Amino acid sequence: MNLVLLGPPGAGKGTLAGLLVEQHDLLHISTGDLLREEMKNGSELGLEAKSYVEKGELVPDLLVTQLLAKKVKTSSPDKGYMLDGFPRTKAQAESLDEILNEIQRPLDLAVYMDATMEVIISRITGRRVAPKSGKVYHIVNRPPKQEGICDVSGEELIQRPDDNEETVRRRMDVYLKNTLPIVEYYESKGILVKVDGDKDSEKLLPELNDIFNEQAKLN
Ligand code: AP5
Repeated sequence: MNLVLLGPPGAGKGTLAGLLVEQHDLLHISTGDLLREEMKNGSELGLEAKSYVEKGELVPDLLVTQLLAKKVKTSSPDKGYMLDGFPRTKAQAESLDEILNEIQRPLDLAVYMDATMEVIISRITGRRVAPKSGKVYHIVNRPPKQEGICDVSGEELIQRPDDNEETVRRRMDVYLKNTLPIVEYYESKGILVKVDGDKDSEKLLPELNDIFNEQAKLN
């Protein structure tokens, strides 16, 4: 099973992906995580991406598509793909079809997690991340056992530089203009499923499990 998770910033794509991947034997590929890794390593691509990411703008299609294609083509062939944050433009969606057709792993499902602005702002401004373990917390919804410290690695939690209210509003504008139209792209292909990202993940997880199990039966 190969699928994409679509949705505005803070809809819970990364959180739900983390809960779903193991149960369904999927490989979680987040282009946001791939870009942050490149930025941390100071690679040429990372340096180019940094200014876009920190302003809440989209990284140019060519850069991010090359990064994604490399990851998909060099990853485990026995697992399905769960793509998070890619595609984000119509051009990326078309490139993705080509990449997946080339490796004969076409998309089965596009899961669209919608969320309201109020929920988005509170989730993003309250998010804290552990840079080394990659674990994601929320100061209210998912607090660590000890304030400011990762439960797994003991490292200090940080706030992503693009997680302030001003940048989130910009990310939201960019999302509405560039990414929302690809919901229709997948709807017209008959593979779109919409879920309510405002719901707490404990409620959303069983819904998504049912959707994935139904799809797995068809494959
Ligand atoms: P990216 O990292 O992909 O950011 P995003 O899409 O804006 O998504 P987020 O990571 O902010 O949100 P999420 O939906 O994963 O929420 P999460 O689960 O963490 O991209 C960052 C940047 O990279 C972009 O702005 C762009 O510049 C660039 N980029 C990336 N991909 C690109 C592409 N394809 N093309 C061009 N540029 C690209 O949840 C958020 C918080 O809420 C957490 O604290 C969590 O604990 C909490 N929470 C989540 N869900 C729930 C829930 N259901 N109930 C309670 N709390 C919840």
